[in-house]
Amino acid sequence: MTWSRATETRAAAILARYPEKRSAVMPLLYLAMAEEGGDLTEDGMRRVAELTGLSAAQVQAVASFYTMYKRDGVGRYLVSVCTSISCMLCGGDEVLDAVADETGVPDGETGEDGLFSVEHVECIGACGGAPAVQVNYELVEGVTPEQARSLCRWLAEQRPETVVGDDLQERFGGQRSFDWGPEEAEGATGPVPAFGPLGTTGERS
Ligand code: FES
Repeated sequence: MTWSRATETRAAAILARYPEKRSAVMPLLYLAMAEEGGDLTEDGMRRVAELTGLSAAQVQAVASFYTMYKRDGVGRYLVSVCTSISCMLCGGDEVLDAVADETGVPDGETGEDGLFSVEHVECIGACGGAPAVQVNYELVEGVTPEQARSLCRWLAEQRPETVVGDDLQERFGGQRSFDWGPEEAEGATGPVPAFGPLGTTGERS
């Protein structure tokens, strides 16, 4: 199989960054997800194996080890709530309950309409701004359960094409771990991290 021309071009550019083709396996798995709207399919993993020279089993071993490679489908908005120690002590479990209740999607599942996936995650490096949440890997810190509900309602009503961390923080965030610096010009266009080489970034609207 081959991907779309744009994706194949991106794959070639990613491969060119690495002296060993197999070292590109992780970004290529993200690229495979982006090609399929967020799902990592068997075909996608086969193409990664072809491109890297790894066996299908080796690619599957990587894909099955890391939870961010979604092999069972994923919604348009992936809401990830940190429940590790700092966030747990600051109410992360209550935030997760609020997200699950507001979206109607239990932890670890995707709603039937494909709008939301909800998951709890381990520390996402924002402990100083606990409790921390990500939407399509865009971060928002200092989230209360009520703000989490508002965030989910906003996503369901507005259906933004691009999710931008700065916007989420301004609308629904609280205490931040540190000053994030220059304003973000771009965000994530789907449930794959926003990286230019993957083609998963979009300008803020
Ligand atoms: S414990 Fe939640 S971000 Fe570190």
